Amino acid sequence: MMQEKLPQGKGGCWTLRLWSAAVISMLLLSTCFIMSCVVTYQFMMEKPNRRLSELHTYNSNFTCCSDGTMVSGKVWSCCPKDWKSFGSHCYFTTDFVANWNESKEKCSHMGAHLLVIHSQEEQDFINGILDTRWGYFTGLSDQGQNQWQWIDQTPYNESVTFWHEDEPNNDYEKCVEINHHKDIGWGWNDIVCSSEHKSICQVKKIYL
Ligand SMILES: *[C@@H]1O[C@H](CO)[C@@H](O)[C@H](O)[C@H]1NC(C)=O
Ligand SMILES: *[C@@H]1O[C@H](CO)[C@@H](O)[C@H](O)[C@H]1NC(C)=O
Ligand SMILES: *[C@@H]1O[C@H](CO)[C@@H](O)[C@H](O)[C@H]1NC(C)=O
Repeated sequence: MMQEKLPQGKGGCWTLRLWSAAVISMLLLSTCFIMSCVVTYQFMMEKPNRRLSELHTYNSNFTCCSDGTMVSGKVWSCCPKDWKSFGSHCYFTTDFVANWNESKEKCSHMGAHLLVIHSQEEQDFINGILDTRWGYFTGLSDQGQNQWQWIDQTPYNESVTFWHEDEPNNDYEKCVEINHHKDIGWGWNDIVCSSEHKSICQVKKIYL
């Protein structure tokens, strides 16, 4: 039955409606019973399901991918439909402009938060999904005098920063956007929080 719904094969993505996710969870439950791994089942069900219901409030469809391997009993990694997937996160770029506070709220209403960059690879991926005509707010802001802080409390690591040359350059510019400079490319720029830009929301993948 699982093979009908979710054809196997190396690598694949499938759009699930929420009920399908529930059906799959049930199937995994049966499998788990056979394998007597109830503990694993509870771990799988409780955490993702809470997040599934949070995400359900704005989007009931998910795209789930599997590379054919099972890690800790989880086969499928899921992002809300139309979000982009990279590593352990899903990303969404807004199509409206708003100030930083409003952008933060918008992401939060989608069960997500503003972008947090953890690595060069992640920054490269993000650069690849942006439109050079716009600037995009990130979840980095200044809590004092160059006291940079990520919105999810990820420690600010000087060696994983992608500031444009000579940035940050103003004490009163307390929010950070990613923008594109012709001939130079993408980078971070500090900017006043009341200015209006697009933004990037990020949420952890759900594993089923
Ligand atoms: C989910 O997908 C179904 C079928 O593709 C579609 O009819 C429905 O409108 C989608 N729901 C949302 C919230 O996008
Ligand atoms: C900062 O990032 C570098 C490169 O990824 C890493 O080697 C280093 O351990 C990190 N430092 C802290 C304090 O996390
Ligand atoms: C954002 O909200 C904080 C408090 O929530 C407020 O102090 C600040 O003035 C607001 N900034 C803007 C640009 O709206």
